[in-house]
Amino acid sequence: MSTTRPYPPSNEDPTDHHPRALLRRLYRDEFGYDLSPAEDARVAATLASSTYGELMPAATDHLVEQLGLGPGDVFYDLGSGLGKVVLQVALRAPVRRCIGIELVRSRHRVAQRILGKVRAQAQLRAAECGFRLGDMMRARISDATVVYTCSTAFSTKFMNLLAERLARLPPGLRWVSTQDIDDNPWFRLERVLRLDMSWRRRSKVHVYRLANPALRCRRRAT
Ligand SMILES: C[S@@+](CC[C@H](N)C(=O)[O-])C[C@H]1O[C@@H](n2cnc3c(N)ncnc32)[C@H](O)[C@@H]1O
Repeated sequence: MSTTRPYPPSNEDPTDHHPRALLRRLYRDEFGYDLSPAEDARVAATLASSTYGELMPAATDHLVEQLGLGPGDVFYDLGSGLGKVVLQVALRAPVRRCIGIELVRSRHRVAQRILGKVRAQAQLRAAECGFRLGDMMRARISDATVVYTCSTAFSTKFMNLLAERLARLPPGLRWVSTQDIDDNPWFRLERVLRLDMSWRRRSKVHVYRLANPALRCRRRAT
């Protein structure tokens, strides 16, 4: 179970949070905001959004605690940008696999480069960690137990298609989304967290659970 540390933390001492201090140093000169017109067009064609923004580091730690991630978990960040969330989760949580999927090559390259540096300087708690270049709508994610999408700017149409896609994964899957999703037969809202994003403090982050098919039918029948 999660311990209750105050969130957002006050008077942070960076030396108390080794993974955060490490990542802050490694990412000091990396920024994901600027894209070439070709990269921008590539993302726009998927109906998602190339708009960049991040979950803040203290918020990522809080999310890891709240999710209680363990060795049975496979965590995917769909639209992993520069890879900060994936690397922080992999440093913090003893998950089986921690994977980022990103469509923009320049962001993906930064993530891979920083992963190499992290491996050289620290011990990952995730048994496996990696980044894949590709469209989250096509990527192989069948082993996921937790999916995170920083999807505030994604279109509703894209979110509905993504919900349909994630609904094909095994029941019990948790989907952490910064955008609330339309009502659908598959996902139940479990909780709403308030987390700091790069563009807004205490933003709502929704944790959905994929119901098993039997429960879905029963609910529809009532
Ligand atoms: C708001 S950023 C989130 C970055 C990171 N997950 C975080 O929270 O720090 C969303 C990312 O999703 C990526 N993206 C958008 N559409 C995508 C798609 N269809 N497949 C994969 N990545 C996509 C964008 O390029 C962008 O880097």
